[in-house]
Amino acid sequence: MTLSTSSANRKPVFVLVGGTGDLALRMLWPSLAMLDQDGFLDKDLRIISVAREAVDRPAFVERVRAAVQKRIGADLEATTLDQFLPRLSHIALDASDPQWGAKLKAELGEVEALNVVYFLSVSPSLFKPICEHLESAGLSKAPNRVIIEKPLGRDLASSKVINDSVAHAFDEARTFRIDHYLGKETVQNLLALRFANTVFEPLWNAQSIDHVQVTVSETVGTGDRLGYYDDYGALRDMVQNHLLQLVCLLAMEPPSNFNADALRDEKVKVLRSLKPITADTVRDVTARGQYGPGFAEGKQVAGYEAEKGSPSNTETYVAIKAEIANWRWAGTPFYLRTGKTLPSRTTEVVIQFRPVPHSIFGSAAQPNRLVIRLQPDEDIKLTVMNKAPGLSADGMQLQPLDLSLSLQSAFDGNGDKPPRRRIAYERLILDALNGNNAAFVRRDEVEAAWAWVDGISAAWAEAYPKPQIYPAGTNGPMSAYMLLDRDHRVWND
Ligand code: BG6
Repeated sequence: MTLSTSSANRKPVFVLVGGTGDLALRMLWPSLAMLDQDGFLDKDLRIISVAREAVDRPAFVERVRAAVQKRIGADLEATTLDQFLPRLSHIALDASDPQWGAKLKAELGEVEALNVVYFLSVSPSLFKPICEHLESAGLSKAPNRVIIEKPLGRDLASSKVINDSVAHAFDEARTFRIDHYLGKETVQNLLALRFANTVFEPLWNAQSIDHVQVTVSETVGTGDRLGYYDDYGALRDMVQNHLLQLVCLLAMEPPSNFNADALRDEKVKVLRSLKPITADTVRDVTARGQYGPGFAEGKQVAGYEAEKGSPSNTETYVAIKAEIANWRWAGTPFYLRTGKTLPSRTTEVVIQFRPVPHSIFGSAAQPNRLVIRLQPDEDIKLTVMNKAPGLSADGMQLQPLDLSLSLQSAFDGNGDKPPRRRIAYERLILDALNGNNAAFVRRDEVEAAWAWVDGISAAWAEAYPKPQIYPAGTNGPMSAYMLLDRDHRVWND
């Protein structure tokens, strides 16, 4: 989507619904303030916070000031907030109020002269009433856009209901579905790595790649989100969105250009090529775990069921052998795993290349490996085999050499300050303000992801109803290790 000239002449407004909520304070206000600091916000941009809570402007502004200072710390420049805070206003509105739309309209002013982005940072159960209010008050017409975020349903059917209710007010090109992983620097860098270089693409297929691993391990438990989490579990909470989006970017065909639909056309094809997992195969190709009593993040953990206070079959860990049934990837599994209360916070992708076809160095020549790390640090490392320096009585000795391909490493030790690590929402909010939806998830992607995930949920219900308990603070259930062991492979721990 590109903004028309007429929309460019309108005055920009950003409406943050849920402006006093947790996500807003932790991520969204700091992101907006940093966009302002870096000169990305239009000088006329007004920002309106909407929430149920009535709080007067000075108190609201103080809350935002504290939230930004807490999140940004030393990177916040002295004058940033002087410029940013005057843009803000807050109004108290309850979505059950039939006057919601009219009251917001009064706050916005002359709607026809505005270009409004609404960020609905509220429970998805409120998307429908809020979109109805916006539509009936005439606030949802083009070029106005809406940003929404997961959970977009807990299965295909409920996701369709949510998408339909939003679609009534905003057409697809003006609906921006966030997957915050798509805003992360290294995730974006995947596209550059794959499609701005010639060296990887000829090898980027089943002939050269043995398998791929995608790991998102977290040290946290479910904390105060247990109510939500118990209904979702790791499969719906993480695999349906973040992990599958990473798989899409890793596995997609090169798009014909960098436009949003060209990219998303290729991503959706990957999702539709995922081999269905059925009750017959589910015990062989997935592992389900739930954390029991243990010790994580330096604290005693009672265990998921004890935290919940009742029995639960919700998985807090999942590992899956995903197969992409197309010419490029047939025979190269993508192993996915994610879990809570694990020993380290790591998000990484491992591309494990095949061994050389004939080794003149015996088993000393290890296959190449590309490790793309998103968390805790951002880095891309290619392991190549190298001659060990010096002499050896036993002929040539080899050693693996890690080549760092990331920008961050260019700053190591040279005294320059590396670029600030941005909050993923900064990029996403900026793109939404500019009407660029390439880094947002299209409806058919969400639905194709749910269709595959629903197959796994159904197979679990039939053939694998109970997760295996793993002690909190350990690497997940044994079954996750057996999943790879059966294929004579190991996780990159
Ligand atoms: C969210 C999940 O979408 O992503 C959380 O709901 C998870 O359960 C979080 O903790 C992880 O995000 P990040 O950016 O910390 O890896």
